Amino acid sequence: MLSKTMEKALNEQINKEMYSSYLYLAMAAHLSEQHLDGFAKFFEIQSQEEWGHAMRIYKHLNERGGRVVLDKIDKPQTTFKDLEEIFTLTLEHEQFITKSIHTLVDLAVKEKDHASQIFLDWFVNEQVEEEANMENWLAKIKMSGAKGHVLFMLDGHAGERKK
Ligand SMILES: [Fe+2]
Ligand SMILES: [Fe+2]
Repeated sequence: MLSKTMEKALNEQINKEMYSSYLYLAMAAHLSEQHLDGFAKFFEIQSQEEWGHAMRIYKHLNERGGRVVLDKIDKPQTTFKDLEEIFTLTLEHEQFITKSIHTLVDLAVKEKDHASQIFLDWFVNEQVEEEANMENWLAKIKMSGAKGHVLFMLDGHAGERKK
């Protein structure tokens, strides 16, 4: 059985993952409008992935006899200057999510909620991957300037993302 504190914190994390999904979908829409179809696809997949994260927590709450309480999702930013801004915001957002996951782990440890602690391991690893991936893209965009034919190349590369 989940504690009320853990239940509340996990519900808040569902909302953060849903917001992530919303934010990345807003980026996808903007990129699609800019005819950067590869990057648009990249962020569509990213958005679906975040929805999947929310659903993992949803299932954990159900399995543990917790109650899922959905809250409203904040409106994300909808226009962006360029790819550098998009990837800077994405990296910052992932760093924020990492902190949030770590706080959840601390709570699980404090409450001796071993099941939640083990469940959250997956998210700790996932965040390492997310940050590394976004850092990598941001570095490539910064070093290339992401203009002209380099931009086309990067867009093509981003569009190769399968999952
Ligand atoms: Fe996530
Ligand atoms: Fe993420």
